[in-house]
Amino acid sequence: MTRPEPRESRGRIVVGVTGSIAAIKTPLLVSQLVQRDYEVIVILTDAANRMVTRETYQALTGGTVIADLWSEIGDTHMGHLEAADDADLFVIVPATANFLGKHAAGIADDALTTALLACVCPVLIAPAMNPRMWDHPLVQRNVETLRELGHRFIGPEVGRLAEGVTGEGRMTEPADILDEIERILEESDRRES
Ligand SMILES: Cc1cc2nc3c(=O)[nH]c(=O)nc-3n(C[C@H](O)[C@H](O)[C@H](O)COP(=O)(O)O)c2cc1C
Repeated sequence: MTRPEPRESRGRIVVGVTGSIAAIKTPLLVSQLVQRDYEVIVILTDAANRMVTRETYQALTGGTVIADLWSEIGDTHMGHLEAADDADLFVIVPATANFLGKHAAGIADDALTTALLACVCPVLIAPAMNPRMWDHPLVQRNVETLRELGHRFIGPEVGRLAEGVTGEGRMTEPADILDEIERILEESDRRES
């Protein structure tokens, strides 16, 4: 068996994962980013860690997975703040209603929301939730607050959700999120050069 030589990283992407059932699709995105030579650091909320466990992400990235603000020291080589430090992009895939509310309110009570407050790079958010939750004025107000901060959104799409209902709330497919990630990184490169 031969292993490919490690190639130079094209940039660091922090992938935050929250507790939506759509998180079953996030490993696919992470795997594609790794295959495209990005350094991927995954930060899981407790609920996300119950949907797809940190071991899956650890296997896919061979790198840093932060799943607990308190046990990360000694558990990973990199803390949540260090992870955010040199990131080129921070993506939250999927983003729950709970996450949107917490971040819009500036709450930092877990590794993901804490790292996000410390990050200065572009932020891309892919929400996923029941259509009635997405339509709720509080959720829409939180989305508006985050857009005003400059955070970008992709989706949600209209379609069938895991629970069987159809409406606006389905997470954008990983392939389309990947295209958007590369578009944003190219834009940042052009601005810097
Ligand atoms: C099976 C299951 C699926 C869920 N799917 C969603 C979802 O798609 N979107 C959402 O906003 N919340 C969903 N929730 C609720 C969140 O997991 C819950 O609000 C949790 O507190 C989110 O925490 P987090 O934002 O820290 O990950 C789901 C819960 C369960 C048990």
